[in-house]
Amino acid sequence: MTAVLAARQVTRSFSLPSGDVHAVRGVDLEVDAGELVVIRGRSGSGKTTLLTMFGGLDRPTSGTIEVDGVDLAAPQTDLDALLGARIASIFQTSGLIPVLSAAENIEVPLRIRRMDPRERDARVVSALEAVGLAGHANQRPAELSGGQQQRVGIARALVMDPGLLLADEPTGQLDSETGVQIMDLIADLVHRRGTAAVVATHDPAMAARADRVLDMHDGVLKTADLSLAP
Ligand SMILES: Nc1ncnc2c1ncn2[C@@H]1O[C@H](COP(=O)(O)OP(=O)(O)OP(=O)(O)O)[C@@H](O)[C@H]1O
Ligand SMILES: [Mg+2]
Repeated sequence: MTAVLAARQVTRSFSLPSGDVHAVRGVDLEVDAGELVVIRGRSGSGKTTLLTMFGGLDRPTSGTIEVDGVDLAAPQTDLDALLGARIASIFQTSGLIPVLSAAENIEVPLRIRRMDPRERDARVVSALEAVGLAGHANQRPAELSGGQQQRVGIARALVMDPGLLLADEPTGQLDSETGVQIMDLIADLVHRRGTAAVVATHDPAMAARADRVLDMHDGVLKTADLSLAP
């Protein structure tokens, strides 16, 4: 089986007046369909830098990243098409559009893809159901709790049925109980749909739901020693 995500010897350095910052160093990682990988690591260890490159929004200084066997940096790669259809991201804040209802927010990626309206409506309804918000379709973000907003963000990320889901501290703004619920939801959806997922988090409760836990230290990614307390 080909991995959905394959990163090989990925590095990312930033040149600052004070010197070079080596944010990511020699990362090798393969993630298969239906696999949930959690990356833990202190602030500044390089998690966001790595996820940003996996999502095609930044390029490695060296090394390669492939999604579905397609090199994100190759000149012939249609990155927009790949990002629109195969890769979805969830962030610490839901990033919803305030003037749109929950259903309309979820519709946005489908409208961008010019999906047939009947199919679009059916997908929005099933995405709202999948995240337990069927009764909240017409509420705007400000009329939803933080956890509900994050659920809408998850529905919006998954409505295109992406092969790869990237989440950077998706529970960072939530209380711990809501955070656990959101992590359970992500794990359940990823496993049921066969999505490959990479989640960066400080939260030990999230690691408990992972198929694989990795630790990032100063830009280096290593298999976590789960016998040590997080
Ligand atoms: N655009 C940039 N220019 C210069 N340095 C950067 C840039 N982006 C990140 N860095 C540096 O790279 C290192 C890794 O940052 P990154 O944001 O990836 O860490 P993180 O693990 O996501 O931290 P946190 O847990 O606080 O979100 C840090 O030293 C940061 O200052
Ligand atoms: Mg970060």
